[in-house]
Amino acid sequence: MLEDLKETFLKEREAIQSLADVNQLRVKYLGKKGLVTAQLKALSTLSSEERPAYGKRVNDLKVLIEQELEARESRLKDEELQRQLRAESIDITLPGKAVSHGREHPLSRTLSAIVDIFVRMGFSVEEGPEVELDYYNFEALNFPKEHPARDMQDTFFVSSEVVLRTHTSPVQVRGMEKRKPPVRFIAPGKVYRCDADITHTPMFHQVEGLMVDRDITFSHLKGVLEAFLHRMFGPDTPVRFRPSFFPFTEPSAEIDIGCILCGGEGCRVCKGSGWLEVLGAGMVHPAVFEHVGYDPGEYSGFAFGMGIERIAMLKYAIDDIRLFFENDIRFLKQF
Ligand code: PHE
Repeated sequence: MLEDLKETFLKEREAIQSLADVNQLRVKYLGKKGLVTAQLKALSTLSSEERPAYGKRVNDLKVLIEQELEARESRLKDEELQRQLRAESIDITLPGKAVSHGREHPLSRTLSAIVDIFVRMGFSVEEGPEVELDYYNFEALNFPKEHPARDMQDTFFVSSEVVLRTHTSPVQVRGMEKRKPPVRFIAPGKVYRCDADITHTPMFHQVEGLMVDRDITFSHLKGVLEAFLHRMFGPDTPVRFRPSFFPFTEPSAEIDIGCILCGGEGCRVCKGSGWLEVLGAGMVHPAVFEHVGYDPGEYSGFAFGMGIERIAMLKYAIDDIRLFFENDIRFLKQF
């Protein structure tokens, strides 16, 4: 009887696959209503002569089953652990995932380079509002109402007295209202004009510059701008001043550099002329000084303005301004 029980157990032991199987056998043989437990309970029905010997055999069987099941159990747990370790292991020989780096936008880079050059020459940095009063954008810059020069500025009007600033020159006026000469600052920022093609976007960036003191002459203007252009585009870059007109400067000039793409030979970008326009500038008009309460008899100064997109397009040979604002990663990655 006990032998049969042992035989069946040993056979069933061979079929164990999982911890659940182990538990099932444990219940079947050793549980409260288990087969071996039943044998132990049956001991009380034996005579006291038979009991010790039979009791020992039942107990031996119980111990055997316990040990066998424990051995199985620990092997299964061990296998499970090994499986888990294999599944969770990290293969350090696999190639890593590349982390893509962000880059500074080409316009920010260009602006930093411009600011850097002027800061080294002693200019501070001034800011002003993008939504601007007609007074600062035009009136105080000597563009009276109905003046034909206003037409060139393709203005976005917010109301009859409020505009999106069309240039950074209003910051000249605000900056001078705030302080007495000497004045030396640049004013970078966004400006807006109702215009869009491959060289114009409705929003673009300018950097304004202003220097006012006693005895400031056109030579100072030339010296400062030549120094700037030579640092920006290289010390051998040819620079030329052409007479021009702005209501807020007199005399006024536009400044060209020798075409950096063709070296002055004439190409598509310089339209065959060999020159590229990069700056507007001039001596501050006395009417502007009067608007800010500076005595034009005592003080003189110069101002200049440039488009950051234009400088960046020339520096990096980019032929479509819209690329700056499409944020195509393939374009931005190149800088
Ligand atoms: N504000 C002018 C423009 O946007 C540029 C400029 C600035 C010209 C300062 C002269 C002096 O066209």
